[in-house]
Amino acid sequence: MLAHLRNISKLALPRRLVTQSASYSSSSSFLIDQPEYSFLKELGLERDNPGVYSGQWQGRGPSVTSYDPGTGRPIATVRQGNVQELEQTIGLAVEAYKQWRQVPAPVRGEIVRQIGDELRKYKEPLGKLVSLEVGKIYSEGQGEVQEFIDICDYAVGLSRIYSGQLINSERADHSILEAWRPLGVVGVISAYNFPNAVFGWNAAIALTTGNSVLWKGAPSTPLVSVATTKIVADVLRRNHLPPVVTLCQGGTDVGQTLVADKRVNLVSFTGSCQTGRDVGVEVQRRFGKVILELGGNNALIIDESANVKMALDAALFGCIGTSGQRCTTTRRIIVHEKLHDQFVKALVGKYKQLIPKIGHQLEAQTLVGPVHTQQNVENYKAAIAEAKSLGGAVAFGGNVIQRDGFYVEPTVITGLPHDASVVHRETFAPIVYILKAKNVDQAIEWNNEVEQGLSSAIFTENIGQAFKWIGAKGSDCGIVNINTTTNGAEIGGAFGGEKATGGGRESGSDAWKQYCKRATITVNHSGELACAQGVVFNVE
Ligand code: UN1
Repeated sequence: MLAHLRNISKLALPRRLVTQSASYSSSSSFLIDQPEYSFLKELGLERDNPGVYSGQWQGRGPSVTSYDPGTGRPIATVRQGNVQELEQTIGLAVEAYKQWRQVPAPVRGEIVRQIGDELRKYKEPLGKLVSLEVGKIYSEGQGEVQEFIDICDYAVGLSRIYSGQLINSERADHSILEAWRPLGVVGVISAYNFPNAVFGWNAAIALTTGNSVLWKGAPSTPLVSVATTKIVADVLRRNHLPPVVTLCQGGTDVGQTLVADKRVNLVSFTGSCQTGRDVGVEVQRRFGKVILELGGNNALIIDESANVKMALDAALFGCIGTSGQRCTTTRRIIVHEKLHDQFVKALVGKYKQLIPKIGHQLEAQTLVGPVHTQQNVENYKAAIAEAKSLGGAVAFGGNVIQRDGFYVEPTVITGLPHDASVVHRETFAPIVYILKAKNVDQAIEWNNEVEQGLSSAIFTENIGQAFKWIGAKGSDCGIVNINTTTNGAEIGGAFGGEKATGGGRESGSDAWKQYCKRATITVNHSGELACAQGVVFNVE
């Protein structure tokens, strides 16, 4: 099967000129019906797919059409769930949890291992679907599935080593234990830009720690949700397990119901700061737990001692990778005044070399694919117009590309004040603002003055500046890199950010603790009752 798929990937993809507004009445105009896209069928997808899984597939809510952002052509449709179906699904997730929590953690890890193995088998077609539906290039689509595989490997190990501790008691012959227990149902609401990996790193850890998972993927990437869930569901079926992973694709009503339902013990939300704030408040209202992965406004600082060649490469991937639609995308470059002009010139030179590499996300030579929707194009246009009106100079790009699909020129803007409104706003598009700073202290101040606090990086060869950057007076972000990109974090560390980014941590390190409740257990093995703090309380 894989050899067959590799051959398909070599075929040139059609570039028929159609517009987004064209109507597609005949089913043959859907990409899934074209032989070049048979990899979609390898994933079990059909022309019309049910978008709810709770042991069975169904979907009685509104149907959505998924589009290829690189052409504007429809891929296939998904029948989303309605609120009633979501409520039933939550009930089934609770029942599944009650069985799953009794399974020993290393046995749960074994199931996650099987999910990772299955993803390895489907990496090629699933990664291609991620590319096709999001608009990210082929290697980034493959990389996203790899990130899910990596976290499965991590979770398998975790299942055997995650543990509590034994704490010294002040009372003789007493012991204090700390244990980590599953929460129950973990709701995962993911965004369009990482429709596979964000579910993956939540699900792998949540399952390993004994929770069941209820997923609502972004409405514009429903096919990735369905295809990924099929892969997981097959593993569960083969192991005669209840639906410890469930899916309910849906609109705002479904999302709001999920967030408000007390049976969902933890809501892990990835998306905008605005929506994330509402989610956080709503979950807090019912004393649920929440993990928020919200916006970033990530800066790359270029110190005067920087290895400029390396910094330029970091800027290129940081600003333009995923067409500027990662939470970790480099949105600001703060350059030492001595290097500023030379850096801008060299970066623009690099951007020029990318022009022939703008194209459909699945074409082999493409490095810059489309943005996801027309809305991203509108946001791009608005940001460029605002930047110009505030006195910014467009050093490169600035235009929408006139072709089918949603293409914009990667853009470099200079000359804006560090605190201009547009610079402080996250626009999910390949636009970077270059700021000129006097020194690293000033650069750190500017790095920290935005509302968001996800990722940051400095390029420096000066050990003093490097340690200042990672110290208490340094970057206030959750990700604080030295001599590497702001984006493209590995799964081993905890992923997430401070301030308006929401404070959540996912993926590696001890982020697993967020998927657990902590039990503090005092055991008296003295044979007599004794109060702590020397309190005497008896009647003899
Ligand atoms: C996101 O953009 O929501 O660090 C996640 C990165 C990826 C994850 C991005 N590993 O860019």
